[in-house]
Amino acid sequence: MEQSNLGERRKPAVFITGAGGEVGHGLISSLSGDRNLDIVATDLRDIEQSLRVQCAETYLADVCDRDALDRLLAMYQVKEIYHLAAVLSTRAELAPEVAHQVNVNGTVNILQIAAEQGRMYGEPVKVVFPSSIAVYGFGSLTQKIQAGAVSEYEYCKPSTMYGCNKLYCEHLGRYYAHSYRQLAQDSVAGDDKNRGVVDFRCVRYPGLISAETIPTGGTSDFVPEMLHAAARGVPYKCFIREDSRIPFMTMPEAIDATLKLAAAPRNSLTQIVYNIASFSPSAGEVAELVKQHFPKANISFEPDERRQAIVDSWPEALDCSVAGNDWGFAPTYTLEKAFEEYLVPRITKQYESVS
Ligand code: SER
Repeated sequence: MEQSNLGERRKPAVFITGAGGEVGHGLISSLSGDRNLDIVATDLRDIEQSLRVQCAETYLADVCDRDALDRLLAMYQVKEIYHLAAVLSTRAELAPEVAHQVNVNGTVNILQIAAEQGRMYGEPVKVVFPSSIAVYGFGSLTQKIQAGAVSEYEYCKPSTMYGCNKLYCEHLGRYYAHSYRQLAQDSVAGDDKNRGVVDFRCVRYPGLISAETIPTGGTSDFVPEMLHAAARGVPYKCFIREDSRIPFMTMPEAIDATLKLAAAPRNSLTQIVYNIASFSPSAGEVAELVKQHFPKANISFEPDERRQAIVDSWPEALDCSVAGNDWGFAPTYTLEKAFEEYLVPRITKQYESVS
């Protein structure tokens, strides 16, 4: 009784970590529309004003600081969590233990908060978690090329700290959803049909391309960097070989897909983890298209052996058929259409307005 009174007093909210990052930008704009849930957003750095005004509350907080998270969530009944905070693949190789701390321990904190809140209110808390193509790993470039489009459970032998962290967190999410404290007397563990107090859902993003923001610290950054450099009229040295191929999608497609997975009826989901992607161009094909749209673009290729090895360990393409069957995922754009209808018009406008 006491608990339900407590529940009535607290405001229902959606909690977003890493809110100031690229995905956070798009997600907050979409979620702030007509929903009844307050957005509570955190980041390690100041969240910019244009995002702050779309949220009920924003906080500077470290996902590794469990006490701080508890304090700031004390007033809310968290219904959904989008856990975006992470150290990406390139940056993680420079400080692997820090990456592990943020990417894994931060995720455990979030899963534990979800389990506690779910238990307190007697309804599952949805945790939506972005994973990555970095969970894959091939022994050689030949093996990568032979494999073609890979499904969710093949070749999961990551060679980066970020990939190891994401793959492990996918498993942790499954554990909290299905088996959490399974031997405890008061266990709230779910099974495949009844997913317990944590409703964990995960999308594996390919490289993401936004017209509005530039990523920091990733290895798939060569595509957005190339495009933004051309739009700003500055030369770009690509750190990857021209023939390198990994999957990509635009940021609006990634946001739509994430929200679509979050909204899917629970009983339609046959997996915890879903691949999503729209196209798989080589770096050279992207450069050609950038030059078509920005004829003055100055793009050269000066591969960095070590970052190249990371890209060579990631798949050429993803098999996204289960996401299509279970919750209707379908790409909006081909690469050409993404340039014509979203990237070039938006990016041109953006840099015009700052020049
Ligand atoms: N964009 C990520 C990175 O490059 C991969 O998912 O680290």
